[in-house]
Amino acid sequence: MEKIVISESNYQIRKARIVRTKKLTPLETLFEIVLDGDRSLDHEPGQFIMVSLFGIGEAPISVASSPTMRDSFEICVRAVGRVTKALHALDAGDEIGIRGPYGKGFPIRIFEGNDLLIVAGGLGIAPLRSLIQYVLDNRRDFGKAHLLLGCKTPQDILFADELDQWRRRMDVQSEYIVDRAEQDWTGPVGLITTLIPGVHLEPERTFGVVVGPPVMYKFVIKELLAKNIPEHQIILSFERHMKCGMGKCGRCQIQNIYTCQDGPVFRYSAVKHMSEAF
Ligand SMILES: Cc1cc2nc3c(=O)[nH]c(=O)nc-3n(C[C@H](O)[C@H](O)[C@H](O)COP(=O)(O)OP(=O)(O)OC[C@H]3O[C@@H](n4cnc5c(N)ncnc54)[C@H](O)[C@@H]3O)c2cc1C
Ligand code: FES
Repeated sequence: MEKIVISESNYQIRKARIVRTKKLTPLETLFEIVLDGDRSLDHEPGQFIMVSLFGIGEAPISVASSPTMRDSFEICVRAVGRVTKALHALDAGDEIGIRGPYGKGFPIRIFEGNDLLIVAGGLGIAPLRSLIQYVLDNRRDFGKAHLLLGCKTPQDILFADELDQWRRRMDVQSEYIVDRAEQDWTGPVGLITTLIPGVHLEPERTFGVVVGPPVMYKFVIKELLAKNIPEHQIILSFERHMKCGMGKCGRCQIQNIYTCQDGPVFRYSAVKHMSEAF
């Protein structure tokens, strides 16, 4: 696999400042961040950064905003442990450190001119939001766009206001489903896989882009293959425990690949033989 060359500057922790926070759910917060010197992050949708909190540690986090947003960028973080909980305790004006962006993002140039079926499970919407915003900002470069989103309950839906805006657009199809809901939810209830058979698509020109919890992949891929989407047009993003984020420590290794450097975005055809990956 082609190796990414990491420049000296990518090793460095750069100073950055939180300029806005938005609580999305009790566990997830959106942070808008500006790099010191007002420089642009220059990432690709699907890439991640290492968020560094001085004296606490680092965590890999996907960039949740499109590179078309030049002056700042956003990350959506779930508070689960030391670093992410400490980050949630910060507010606008606080300083953090950033390394990256790292990894291979979604193959945007290859997507151009083709249709997209984007399947997001839970927090998987974070890296996919970067792709969705990029597609909407460059709408003419892409064919049909269909978004399927699945969450545990209606209270877990992230970016509900943006989802509503996307739902009102004529040039994007979007459907949402929750695993379980109280009576006031009028949308569908069930697993995200149940939405796929109903999507009308032309498999030879469709890329299925899937990001979600590990348990989701096997079943979603099965449905995409049943729709005759070729294996090399099924695109996945993997989350692995990472330490360095740039191919040095081996923490994220699956067989002969480093998820941080060769991924986190992969074609299904390239990883389907790696049972540990799923
Ligand atoms: C490429 C990539 C992109 C990611 N993008 C996002 C994102 O956009 N938003 C977000 O909230 N999280 C994201 N994560 C997960 C995030 O990195 C972990 O939740 C974070 O590292 C936990 O750090 P902590 O110090 O808060 O938790 P810790 O105290 O280290 O651990 C708390 C719990 O989180 C689990 N955990 C730690 N690291 C990971 C990991 N890499 N994947 C899954 N579980 C983990 C631990 O097993 C433990 O159960 C991403 C991970 C990767 C590899
Ligand atoms: S996290 Fe160190 S090699 Fe990938």
